Amino acid sequence: MKRVITYGTFDLLHYGHINLLQRAKKYGDYLIVALSTDEFNWNAKHKKSYFSYEKRKRLLEAIRYVDLVIPENSWHQKLTDIKEYHVDTFVMGDDWAGKFDFLEEKTTVDVIYLPRTPEVSTTQIKEELQNKGDVED
Ligand code: CTP
Repeated sequence: MKRVITYGTFDLLHYGHINLLQRAKKYGDYLIVALSTDEFNWNAKHKKSYFSYEKRKRLLEAIRYVDLVIPENSWHQKLTDIKEYHVDTFVMGDDWAGKFDFLEEKTTVDVIYLPRTPEVSTTQIKEELQNKGDVED
């Protein structure tokens, strides 16, 4: 069985996320999503997600392409995750292009960057909703 892993926050789940997960799953039979915890988002990424970790996890678990959701607590867990879960392919959106090439040297994984879906992001959704609120207030 070929195992694929990807990492992210996946807040306010949108079609860009679904496109990414669908394409990631095609690289294997079993897709693991390492989902950033609320603490990791706050401390390391300096952002607060709209939905809590537990809610984001439940949403991801309901997606047919996703087989397992594990917590992402630090930038440094990738090597251990790859070994622990016997990962064959590491997939990220191309906003991270080049950043994880070192994993190919240190492990047997293939690292793949997939093109982002244009014109949608959690940040953009939040900003648009915020602007609407400003107009209506
Ligand atoms: N992603 C994508 N296309 C988009 C948005 C996200 O392929 N339009 C991918 C990212 O490249 C990443 C994964 O989905 O591999 C999770 O991304 P995440 O950062 O959680 O989503 P964003 O919408 O980019 O959130 P933010 O605006 O907070 O960065």
